[in-house]
Amino acid sequence: MKNDRKTVNETAEFLKNRTGTQPTIGFFSGTGLGTAVSFFEPEARLDYREIPNFPQATVTSHTGRMLFGQAHGQRVVAMEGRFHLYEGYRPQEVAFPVRVMQALGVKTLILTNAAGGLDPSLNTGDILVIADHINLTGENPLVGPNEDAWGLRFPPMTAAYDRDLGRLAFRAGAALGVSLKTGVYAGLKGPSLETPAEIRFLKTIGAAAVGFSTVPEVIAAVHGGMRVLGLSIITNMNDPDHPVPATLEEVLDVGGRVTPLLSDIVGGVLSRLETAS
Ligand code: HPA
Repeated sequence: MKNDRKTVNETAEFLKNRTGTQPTIGFFSGTGLGTAVSFFEPEARLDYREIPNFPQATVTSHTGRMLFGQAHGQRVVAMEGRFHLYEGYRPQEVAFPVRVMQALGVKTLILTNAAGGLDPSLNTGDILVIADHINLTGENPLVGPNEDAWGLRFPPMTAAYDRDLGRLAFRAGAALGVSLKTGVYAGLKGPSLETPAEIRFLKTIGAAAVGFSTVPEVIAAVHGGMRVLGLSIITNMNDPDHPVPATLEEVLDVGGRVTPLLSDIVGGVLSRLETAS
């Protein structure tokens, strides 16, 4: 699959023509957090299969949809279903929708995910504002020739997650009576879950949460000059001294229960965007 500017622009043109809209806000929802997009009413829905040059769904993953609509006066494009490295996608494929969003004019990217908690002050069901990440995927979507029109060859990652957006998330949470947490997200390739020794290592290097998504998209978004907000739902706790296998059921169950609140927080961030920027 090609990931050059010509291919990306072709896809963006198709979407502009089909939807007649140019969103400024992009949104990715995490596994099992499909209804996290309920903060807005989609006006157009496009199956990934209908979108030229979009990564092909693997046998293990269902095809998703790209949703276009408005929320709190902002034009939004949302991904219902994302691509993961553990499914076999190349990092450039995982980041392809971010490039398309960039070409459409998206300036602010909001990503949600399910993550395992490492910091003992966290609890299952908490929402974590990602303060920073550690890329342990062994991959990077910027490998290969640099598209200078997209961003720098060596883009700084000193402020990958926008502090103002993080503050807005905290305020949106407070307005809903919830205290959000914050910390570093360690991004792994997966799909095998962490060994106790790996959990100990992740805690030692300063990670508060661990998951298998988000990092490739964020690297591409920051390269492309977007402001990024990342929100993790802590679906299970990882304690190296009392290792308990995390099950998909548990992840989906907790994720499903917290998703309505997460969606309200995203809505709260969007409603506060105007005044903050
Ligand atoms: N590890 C990695 N990814 C995850 C976890 C975890 O414990 N929980 C939810 N996603």
